[in-house]
Amino acid sequence: SELLSIRPQKLREYIGQQKIKDELSIYIQAALQREEALDHVLLYGPPGLGKTTLAMVIANELEVNVQTTSGPAIDRPGDLLAILNELSPGDILFIDEIHRLPRVVEEVLYSAMEDYFVDIIIGQGPSAHPVHFELPPFTLIGATTRAGMLSQPLRDRFGIISHMEYYQTEDLKLIVERSSQVFSTEIDESGAQEIALRSRGTPRIANRLLRRVRDYAQVKGNGLITKDITQASLDILAIDDKGLDTLDRRLLMTMIEQYNGGPVGIGTIAVNIGEDLETVEDMYEPFLLQNGFLQRTPRGRIVTPYAYEHLGMIHPDTMKEE
Ligand code: ADE
Repeated sequence: SELLSIRPQKLREYIGQQKIKDELSIYIQAALQREEALDHVLLYGPPGLGKTTLAMVIANELEVNVQTTSGPAIDRPGDLLAILNELSPGDILFIDEIHRLPRVVEEVLYSAMEDYFVDIIIGQGPSAHPVHFELPPFTLIGATTRAGMLSQPLRDRFGIISHMEYYQTEDLKLIVERSSQVFSTEIDESGAQEIALRSRGTPRIANRLLRRVRDYAQVKGNGLITKDITQASLDILAIDDKGLDTLDRRLLMTMIEQYNGGPVGIGTIAVNIGEDLETVEDMYEPFLLQNGFLQRTPRGRIVTPYAYEHLGMIHPDTMKEE
């Protein structure tokens, strides 16, 4: 038997995202039965939800090899060709952050995806000439934080589009329990529940918190992770009972103190808290919106009464009534 690894290897080990797993399981079985390459798959959703893990799981299920790269790593069509060249029939090409592919590379990808060939200009100046390369049938798995950041022609070439969602607390709890087994760490039910509640629906965060809580339990306790141990160690990390970290709270407080709670544009907020726009857009805003701390309006984001309450602040509407 194989050692339990922190990343699940098969679909049945992969916790949560049930709808996506049900769909993929059918398409994978169909491709295996027909002995064809799986159709191209686009995985989109916030960072840390397991897009890369899922891509590797799909490869394991298909029993094919994976070539891994990322949008920003491919500068020129030739870089893409070098990777495509490594593919055997049925293999997977995984492109993380596919929305960051340069346009010239993206255009070469169209024919590769649709008809398994690329036409590339080789050489420069007078010696430049087009060369035609045939490719084996392969599966492109692209990962992106938002499908909207992909051009329409690229999006249209994915036959399977899977939208990953933040995990339910119950699923995160199972992931924490599974990871505890991988780490050979003892955790009780209340400890797993507490870590799950504070992980913003995100397995990557849950696993990171688990490592820190495990350290704390080992040094300050007897090794067993309980609710009390979890609360004490997450207090040190300044992660509150809703899973908000220092930056989440700074973002909300900046909006409250400098913009009267909004509306304010996301770009303005990012500058004010000294974070780059993409980080705020991908990692902070979606969670705060989904969990009712922020609301979208045509004129920008506003802080909700619920967020005021959570931060111990008084909402302006409450003051007007007095
Ligand atoms: N580790 C990270 N994400 C996971 C998932 N969805 N299932 C199991 N283990 C995981």
